[in-house]
Amino acid sequence: MIVAIDGPAGSGKSTVARLLAERLQIRYLDTGAMYRAIALAVVQSSFDENDVDAVTGIAQSVRIEFRKDDIYLNGTNVTNEIRSANVTAVASVVAANPYVRTRLVELQQQIATLGDLVTEGRDQGTVVFPQADHKFFVTASLLTRARRRHQEMVAGGSTLPLQTVKSQLRQRDHRDENREYAPMKPASDAQVIDTSDMSIGEVVNTLTQRIRPES
Ligand code: DC
Repeated sequence: MIVAIDGPAGSGKSTVARLLAERLQIRYLDTGAMYRAIALAVVQSSFDENDVDAVTGIAQSVRIEFRKDDIYLNGTNVTNEIRSANVTAVASVVAANPYVRTRLVELQQQIATLGDLVTEGRDQGTVVFPQADHKFFVTASLLTRARRRHQEMVAGGSTLPLQTVKSQLRQRDHRDENREYAPMKPASDAQVIDTSDMSIGEVVNTLTQRIRPES
């Protein structure tokens, strides 16, 4: 069984996907972490993220693996490093590179051959797993998503104002929605869940109900 969950940043989809996978007792795949790992490799190189050939070369040569809940880039655990603000911004630029996408889509499909999966990203229901058993597009208003992200950042010691977080999210949404290859959008057969007025627990319950109505 493949459960594909797509949606914008701050929609709660990562937390929901992780908890849903636990509840269903199947594996969880964070595809955003894979784009972030390539972004980190670009940041660590001397190349600009807009240099398509250089980014393609980097994407061709890196090794990305998951070990338990951690992601490794060329054998190094980069789980925390890929969450920095800089890597976050570069990730949405490298995610527009068609070679990067082709390479990661192959890797994601390969991971899915190992068994049931809850997979989360921007193109899981549209491009990577068009045959997924269940497709959800989890979203929320821009302000709600900005508030959630801002709260997380404040808890982590950030002093960035809410307005800045909101405009960064808007920029990222714009890049993800308007790129030529695999833009973020709900699959035509996806169930759209607006989480603006829902708790994480309510969202997980809703998804579980839709997947296993008998439970
Ligand atoms: O979900 P996230 O914030 O960790 O994703 C990081 C970036 O990668 C984001 O800008 C969108 C992009 N991404 C993508 O294009 N396709 C995916 N399947 C997952 C993430």
